[in-house]
Amino acid sequence: MSTALVTGATAGIGRAFARRLAAEGYDLVLVARDSERLASLAEYLGDRYGTVAERLPADLTRDEELAEVERRLGDATRPIDLLVNNAGFGTSGAFWDTDPETLRQQVDLNVTAVLRLTRAVVPVMRDFGRGDVINLSSVAGFFAMSGSTYSATKAYVTTFSEGLSAALADTGVRVMALCPGFTRTEFHQRAQLEMSSLPKAFWLDADTLVHEALRDLRRGRTVSIPGAQYKAVVALGKLIPNRLQRFVVSHAAPGRT
Ligand SMILES: NC(=O)c1ccc[n+]([C@@H]2O[C@H](COP(=O)([O-])OP(=O)(O)OC[C@H]3O[C@@H](n4cnc5c(N)ncnc54)[C@H](OP(=O)(O)O)[C@@H]3O)[C@@H](O)[C@H]2O)c1
Repeated sequence: MSTALVTGATAGIGRAFARRLAAEGYDLVLVARDSERLASLAEYLGDRYGTVAERLPADLTRDEELAEVERRLGDATRPIDLLVNNAGFGTSGAFWDTDPETLRQQVDLNVTAVLRLTRAVVPVMRDFGRGDVINLSSVAGFFAMSGSTYSATKAYVTTFSEGLSAALADTGVRVMALCPGFTRTEFHQRAQLEMSSLPKAFWLDADTLVHEALRDLRRGRTVSIPGAQYKAVVALGKLIPNRLQRFVVSHAAPGRT
């Protein structure tokens, strides 16, 4: 029996991963802050799929709580086969108007937690000669979006995952950056981003995205960009000069100022 640990499992993409992995027969360790939502998800997965679902409530921006999750990942007597570093958040408004504490928490969650949880699990996976890590990045990580640290955190996640994947070649441990575009979840509401102008064709569905991501992981991809529309956006972005790219992004991306 394989076990997956999913951070941010109570909503959106993380919840879709938890459901899909449970359906595939994984046992789960579910991490998020909201204990009630964790309990109801664990109960649902147990009833629906017979999943053994461990709950690990933690705010990953708090050092001691992050350390608890690190300890769980480093416990070789209960090895984790798949780590999904999914928890993350965005913000709206200008950088200079955003509470510095919010920005610190964003870097703590989107970057530091990904780094530390990966660092905790990789040695165990290397010892066993197998294991997978999926780090949630974003299409935003390929573009210098104005006014927000969000794309910078995601650029880190993609580059970190690609480099680590290369370093782990031939060890049996795979690392993949998952780079979705706009996906219908609680993300935009939490960030207070106004999304009504986004054309329907650009919305991704979390379940479909997770299906594509797991398929890409199993094909040995290092970077997964779900959806033909976003594969095209990223490919096009690489072809145009940086100055033009910054102009287009700052005028086209909804929500962020
Ligand atoms: N939705 C999109 O358009 C989109 C696009 C590209 C990339 N992404 C990335 O995909 C990932 C998942 O986003 P989503 O869209 O599924 O967002 P979401 O619906 O808002 O879910 C976020 C999850 O993270 C958890 N979380 C938030 N802060 C946390 C903290 N401090 N400690 C532990 N858990 C925390 C939340 O649960 P609690 O509140 O219970 O803690 C929730 O389970 C993020 O990394 C995001 O950047 C999203």
